[in-house]
Amino acid sequence: MLLKEIKDIRSIIKDWKKDGLTIGYVPTMGCLHEGHKSLIEKAVSENDKVVVSVFVNPTQFGPNEDYDSYPKNIDEDLEICKKSGASIVFNPDKEEMYFNNKSTTVSVSELTNVLCGAKRPGHFDGVCLVLSKFFNIITPDKAYFGEKDFQQIAVVKRMVRDLNINIEILSCPIVREKDGLAKSSRNVYLSKEERKAALVLNRSLSLAKEELKHGERNSKIIKDIIVNELNKEPLAKIDYVEIVDSESLNDLEIVNTTALIPIAVYIGKTRLIDNFIFNI
Ligand code: PAJ
Repeated sequence: MLLKEIKDIRSIIKDWKKDGLTIGYVPTMGCLHEGHKSLIEKAVSENDKVVVSVFVNPTQFGPNEDYDSYPKNIDEDLEICKKSGASIVFNPDKEEMYFNNKSTTVSVSELTNVLCGAKRPGHFDGVCLVLSKFFNIITPDKAYFGEKDFQQIAVVKRMVRDLNINIEILSCPIVREKDGLAKSSRNVYLSKEERKAALVLNRSLSLAKEELKHGERNSKIIKDIIVNELNKEPLAKIDYVEIVDSESLNDLEIVNTTALIPIAVYIGKTRLIDNFIFNI
């Protein structure tokens, strides 16, 4: 069922709660793919009812980012949600979600000044604001996020902890295309040539993974391997390559604990992210 108004979804959720049903929630910005589908299917397997929100959130885009051109495909999104077993697709307009004179900010001060937070100032404030609103509207028991946006999960978990929001945050592994490219709504921006070039993200991470498996623990050496491979691709421009502690997101000089190796790379004008977790 497609709903556009807060009052309508609230009324249905009230009835579900009266009946003692559990609610799973999958927040998305639409243009759904197999990655989103994996979250919805996991939510369906663990809850009585599942809500998927489809909302391109203006407050998490910077002034020179792709808010206006962000891909939209609500008909296909509805089809995917229905097939995956979601109960409700909540697709509010911008005016339904935001007041003209909105004056409240939600800002997680730790974990947000590195990686994507450092490169996209204000991005996580926008994510936290919109998720606080959706969490209050939908009041789910569990919410599902993808490890492709690893920092987002860390920030959301911190927000939920700090604000005593009674929702369990669950994470799901990265879903990839057959050739290894991480699925992303932004992949539709890539030309044929760029699509081929984009494989360098996963390729460079795989080289690093091999090196770690063979016992290398020096972050600089591992980073250099990734950077060298990325630099071989003329269409790629590195935004960042880091090796951090997977919990604190602090830099790791030596990989002596569970490490997150996240990268952000422009392929032409399209900014893509990917990562892997290395457990020692
Ligand atoms: P969006 O980019 O649409 O992603 C929605 C969810 O799908 C996120 O949790 C993301 O990590 C997950 N996802 C995307 N690609 C994936 C992949 N290849 N494998 C597994 N999961 C994947 O992230 C957002 O939207 C927004 O910031 C949002 C949380 C909706 C707030 O506006």
